[in-house]
Amino acid sequence: MPEAAPHILPALPADAEEILALQRLAYRSEAKLYGDPNIPPLRQTLAELRDEFAALTILKAVEGAAIIGSVRAGLDGGVCRVGRLMVRPDRQRRGLGAALLAAIEARFPQAARYALFTGCRSAGNLRLYGRCGYRETARSAAGPGPEMIFLEKPGPAAG
Ligand SMILES: CC(C)(COP(=O)(O)OP(=O)(O)OC[C@H]1O[C@@H](n2cnc3c(N)ncnc32)[C@H](O)[C@@H]1OP(=O)(O)O)[C@@H](O)C(=O)NCCC(=O)NCCS
Repeated sequence: MPEAAPHILPALPADAEEILALQRLAYRSEAKLYGDPNIPPLRQTLAELRDEFAALTILKAVEGAAIIGSVRAGLDGGVCRVGRLMVRPDRQRRGLGAALLAAIEARFPQAARYALFTGCRSAGNLRLYGRCGYRETARSAAGPGPEMIFLEKPGPAAG
């Protein structure tokens, strides 16, 4: 039987544990890319993620009973800050990352801009964001960690 298309819907605090497990799995590739097993997505604790439910909108992509993708965002002034876009490795490269990004943007029609960031070595992420309309606005100052690239795209409430 073919797999049903995943549903994208709001996550609940009760999903925190499963989302954190997914995060630890999905971000392994980024940790490998940067040679750093302690990147922030891999350091986040369950208590920290639970707290984010109060401040952020968190979406999940569900296939059957399993969460196979997630993304979160919050409004900061007129800027919708998007983060922690993740898809289970065995479900990547099927368009789910782009679908999650579109779904979280649609939750913030009041945004003047959507903003996100990624590391400079994450070529696949940069291609995805470019395809979804994001353009580079800044790079992090030279420091001990990898250079971060900040990207934005106009939102529906852009002046
Ligand atoms: C970033 C991430 C969420 C993308 O998820 P995804 O579901 O693979 O994203 P998409 O499928 O929309 O796009 C990824 C690629 O698959 C391709 N693709 C999309 N649908 C496809 C299909 N049906 N068949 C073949 N390829 C397809 C896209 O064109 C894109 O190709 P590219 O890399 O050559 O540009 C995922 O790679 C991930 O979880 N990475 C680890 C965590 C991470 O780095 N998150 C972002 C932090 S900034």
